[in-house]
Amino acid sequence: MRPSRFDEGGWSLADALERLEGPHRYRHQSPRRWWATVGLARGERVVEIGAGTGFFAAEAARRVGPRGRVYAVDISEPLVEYLWERRRRERIPALFPVLSTSDRVPLPSGVATTELWANVYHGLPRATIAEGLRLLAPRGRLLVIEWKKVPTPGGPPLARRKTLDELTRELARIGLHRRRDGPLGEFHYWAVFRRAPSGGQRRRVRAVRREASPPSRLRRLSPRRRAA
Ligand SMILES: C[S@@+](CC[C@H](N)C(=O)[O-])C[C@H]1O[C@@H](n2cnc3c(N)ncnc32)[C@H](O)[C@@H]1O
Repeated sequence: MRPSRFDEGGWSLADALERLEGPHRYRHQSPRRWWATVGLARGERVVEIGAGTGFFAAEAARRVGPRGRVYAVDISEPLVEYLWERRRRERIPALFPVLSTSDRVPLPSGVATTELWANVYHGLPRATIAEGLRLLAPRGRLLVIEWKKVPTPGGPPLARRKTLDELTRELARIGLHRRRDGPLGEFHYWAVFRRAPSGGQRRRVRAVRREASPPSRLRRLSPRRRAA
């Protein structure tokens, strides 16, 4: 099995086309059927973090219609260029590719009525998760698609994968609670999360960011003083 590409700053276009765009995948994880299952209204504002080739984002952009927006975010420049080309080729004006870094998505806070993390959570740095939380509207929902934690042909190493229960516990710690879930094809599951009514979202974003980078006081200390 080839290693995950998360640590290498995004995927190459050739790799992404080979792994994400095969006809087999469209048959077994049909984005059309999946969006119909979870529902997506016209006019919604969708953010997909790690959109890759737009496998899910392109169909979302057709569904939200001309008044909606689908921000297809990725850290890979060639993939963002590919998404712009796909937007033109397939005439989907609601698709807006966005180039990000792992700690900055250049979109306003609370923009997403629906946010999608498809096949990315197992490798996302905490700083990107904090950005995802910042972008989610107060009453927005987060949709997660992940590999089942069982041996499969391809996919990330088992040690990185989460069972649905592990995912649910980890997201509950940052204030997101599971509402629905189901299978997607043979090797994946999906789940819908929403915020607890108590709010406190800014505090949670700050807490996840703090975990992502050590406090500045520590960064300023020299290794010798830290060891002392
Ligand atoms: C496994 S692919 C999934 C693509 C798409 N979500 C799908 O299911 O078809 C992971 C994608 O996430 C992107 N990526 C990796 N780390 C990221 C990060 N920190 N922020 C945004 N995108 C990231 C990669 O460049 C790649 O396109």
